[in-house]
Amino acid sequence: MSDLSGNKIIGAALATALVIAGLGVGVPMLFPKAPPAKPGDVVAITAEAGGGAAAEVDTPPDWGTVLKTADVAAGEAKTSACKSCHMFDASGANNIGPGLYGVVGRKPGSHAGFAYSAGMTAFSGKQPVWDYQHIYEFLKGPQAYIDGTKMTYQGMKASQDRINVIAYLHTLGSSLPIPAPNPAAAAPAAAARWRRQSPSRAGRSSGPAAPPPPAAAG
Ligand code: HEC
Repeated sequence: MSDLSGNKIIGAALATALVIAGLGVGVPMLFPKAPPAKPGDVVAITAEAGGGAAAEVDTPPDWGTVLKTADVAAGEAKTSACKSCHMFDASGANNIGPGLYGVVGRKPGSHAGFAYSAGMTAFSGKQPVWDYQHIYEFLKGPQAYIDGTKMTYQGMKASQDRINVIAYLHTLGSSLPIPAPNPAAAAPAAAARWRRQSPSRAGRSSGPAAPPPPAAAG
């Protein structure tokens, strides 16, 4: 018995030594290589989802692509932040803010019976229609976007939240069609962002659905 125990102890010690030796070799091999493996991917995802630090880098979405994959129910849930001021039902009733039913595709500052600010009226002189992109920019920070607006809402930073809200608004009697997907149009902006992070990845498309950019030089 004691011989057997001794063998077991030696065996266990050898096994432990092997594991430690294995780690000793394996760890330095793993760590220097792991972080640079996909730096562009990690940074790009963080920039989309995080808001905050990524606030200035807000690449215009390809609406024909993002509206098809947007989470309409999540967007509707996010409008709880709007409901202290806005009604969303088809009656179009005004509250502190104008009724939002049908706002996608509507002329800014044009809803009947609502007294808009001078800032919103001036905006409607430059921008004939609330399209996806302009609502997206407005919701990020209304007062930074339209000087003098009465919409005293701090803004919705996360781009995916705004995309979901806009997808929900689109279901409410919108007159604006969803454009055909055009990922190539978004590619130059995405490529610029990648180039900033990692020169070797410049020009690569950022999504699995995106075909190779037509003008990409090998
Ligand atoms: C604190 C009240 C308040 C909150 C919260 C608020 N809004 Fe507004 N909103 C307003 C007011 C007031 C206006 C009119 C702005 C003006 O005349 O300058 C407005 C205008 C708008 C317009 C332009 C409508 C038009 O007819 O031109 C849109 C779109 C809009 N809001 C969307 C939203 C969404 C989406 C949310 C939630 C994420 C939201 N608002 C949250 C008060 C609010």
